Amino acid sequence: MSETISGSRGLSIEEPLIFEQDTPGQSGVDLPEGPEPVDDRLGGLRRRNPIGLPGLSEPTVVRHYTRLSQKNFGIDSVFYPLGSCTMKHNPRLGEKMARLAGLADIHPFQPESTVQGALELIDQTAHWLKTLTGMPAVVMSPAAGAHGEFCGLMTIRAALEDRGEKRFRVLVPESAHGTNPASAAACGFTVDPIPATAAGRVDLAALKAKLGGDVAAVMLTNPNTCGLFERDILEIAAAVHAAGGYFYCDGANYNAIVGRVRISDLGIDAMHINLHKTFSTPHGGGGPGAGPTVLSAALAPYAPLPAVVHDDRGFRLVEHAAGSGARPCGRIKGYHGQFGVFVRALSYMMSMGADGLRQAASDAVLNANYLLAELSSDLTPSFAGPCMHEALFDDRFLKDSGVTTLDFAKALIDEGFHPMTMYFPLVVHGALLMEPTETESKDTLDRFIASVRGLARRAKAGDGADFKAAPVHTPRRRLDETTAARTPVLRWRPPEK
Ligand SMILES: Cc1ncc(COP(=O)(O)O)c(C=O)c1O
Repeated sequence: MSETISGSRGLSIEEPLIFEQDTPGQSGVDLPEGPEPVDDRLGGLRRRNPIGLPGLSEPTVVRHYTRLSQKNFGIDSVFYPLGSCTMKHNPRLGEKMARLAGLADIHPFQPESTVQGALELIDQTAHWLKTLTGMPAVVMSPAAGAHGEFCGLMTIRAALEDRGEKRFRVLVPESAHGTNPASAAACGFTVDPIPATAAGRVDLAALKAKLGGDVAAVMLTNPNTCGLFERDILEIAAAVHAAGGYFYCDGANYNAIVGRVRISDLGIDAMHINLHKTFSTPHGGGGPGAGPTVLSAALAPYAPLPAVVHDDRGFRLVEHAAGSGARPCGRIKGYHGQFGVFVRALSYMMSMGADGLRQAASDAVLNANYLLAELSSDLTPSFAGPCMHEALFDDRFLKDSGVTTLDFAKALIDEGFHPMTMYFPLVVHGALLMEPTETESKDTLDRFIASVRGLARRAKAGDGADFKAAPVHTPRRRLDETTAARTPVLRWRPPEK
């Protein structure tokens, strides 16, 4: 376990467990002796025997966790062309704001009068989202993009129930993120896929042919997961409305159009916004995130509670709809949403300003088009450009090379770059989806382009055999991502007597 081998960054590959670094008698604190244990009087709750914590000095603990953190390969250490798909760079200003005691040390059960500032902050964040999208209402509680989808579809279900209509089908493009069909199914709908055209966009004729009196909603992602703007969006909105359904937009890719496109002009009834993507908040390891969902006037009465309102009594949290005329679809999360994420998002919005957000969208699109243009001669772009915020390539350029998309991505790690999104979207073979975002400089993009080009040329020249072993310069080598049988099955065992 404690064998040390030098990795590319001069780090020990194996880090002993904190328990293996136990030096009995060492401690990071020097506490006064306590009274004699009194376990008889406390029903045996206090122990006489040591509980087996390792003896460690403070520097040993700090170094252990610092070394572990340095093994991370992520956005704070290298270029990360997964882009806003996972999360963008988080400005440190947002982190600083979120740590202000008046924001960090409050509790959701505090009386409203003591958290007026926090309620105002939620209200202001909501105000920015409504202003940017032009939509009349927003639900702040969803805890991620997928949760926002669930929220939007629950309001659609409530609206349909109110209309007394039994519509159970939701049309979802083949290229959609997996969360779209999952959310529709979780809300009790049946998912009906819409094919894509050869140009990577929704097949409008196929969509229209599927519309009918049993269709509850169409879920469209725009820009879509191929990095293309769905140009038929107005016609799609009109068609689904004419058929009596609602129009849901997956706004995960809003980063590409924020400040440039007003969502309310597109006929959209509900759209979630992944704050970690567009508004630079953290989403590490899948959470905590936030996916506020904007709603049209038709769906606003069905929005789940709670909601922050502002009146002559100050800021209030509305927990019950009684007497308001609203028919909320329920409550989808404990408390009031991911407050710490709102702090960071609002700090980003206010520091960027409306013009800055618009500029960020333009820069994100420019950066993706730079990658598309520079790499098109060595890789195979899946669709004709220009693209929006991400550039999509497939694995045709690797044909007969013996190198797969996975090998290519792993070889990129040895070049010092995090891999791009692989094998998604599913509508192209062996996808390599690159999203640089607006924060990357031309210099970084040029270094990335040079590495990708070099690898592509090596693969095509038949010199890619060692890609199979990549990465070799990382604390951990390649995991077997292909053999399901290797996945450990965790089974509960009764404690040993
Ligand atoms: C297009 C699209 N829709 C939905 C989601 C789900 O968002 P979240 O990860 O916040 O649940 C993602 C996440 O990557 C996405 O890219």
